Amino acid sequence: MTRKKIVAGNWKMNLDYQSGIKLAKKVRAAASSASDKLVIMAPPAIHLKSVADLLSDSKYLYCAAQNCHSEDSGAYTGELSVPMLKSIKVDYVILGHSERRAYFAESSEMLKAKVDQVLAHGLKPIFCCGESLAIRQSGMQNDYVANQIAQSLFHLSAKEFGKVVIAYEPIWAIGTGETASPEQAQNMHASLRKLIASKYSKAVAENCSILYGGSVKPQNASALFSQPDVDGGLVGGASLKAEDFCKIADAM
Ligand code: 13P
Repeated sequence: MTRKKIVAGNWKMNLDYQSGIKLAKKVRAAASSASDKLVIMAPPAIHLKSVADLLSDSKYLYCAAQNCHSEDSGAYTGELSVPMLKSIKVDYVILGHSERRAYFAESSEMLKAKVDQVLAHGLKPIFCCGESLAIRQSGMQNDYVANQIAQSLFHLSAKEFGKVVIAYEPIWAIGTGETASPEQAQNMHASLRKLIASKYSKAVAENCSILYGGSVKPQNASALFSQPDVDGGLVGGASLKAEDFCKIADAM
């Protein structure tokens, strides 16, 4: 099994420029010796160039954008293109976060186009999926998340799919302090891996890093990461404190 262990911090719309750079420097100092896993920071747009520069000499630390547009350039006020991200050496792009789906009406079709755009320029998508509380309570969560994956990713070739990182983030666990139990996370991750194996192959499924996101904290990280199909975490709130984020990375 060669899949990568990854801890990624999604800063969302937090931290002014100075505080963000301070955080990135602290994480770099603490995590620079990590060798068996990747640590990714996804700051807001204003930090991207500085954070990418700061991490450029590390083999284990990477910079991600939180979103991108599906076109190369044009009259799309307020947007960032993948060629722009590439020009400052951003490596990953988070796509399909539930906040983007909910507040910015990002559909599976739009995400499919963004996935293609990210891959076309040689960057890697961190593709988010996850169900609402109502869907979880109805017991349909595995089908729902499988559909999200199929709709935006299953047009890819096996080679292209191999570049995608998946992040399972149940909406009811995001920013709520409520976490999926290790068993709930494992159940979903195993079901996604099975889905990927049936679409592509066992090898493709075994190589795919599937991260868990939703109130990951230093206190619950080890239990989540010890599950066989949980390959790391996508961390929101706790990624804003270097100490907590590094503890989570160390828990892996
Ligand atoms: P929290 O860790 O704050 O719950 O956020 C998770 C998340 O949305 C990461 O993308």
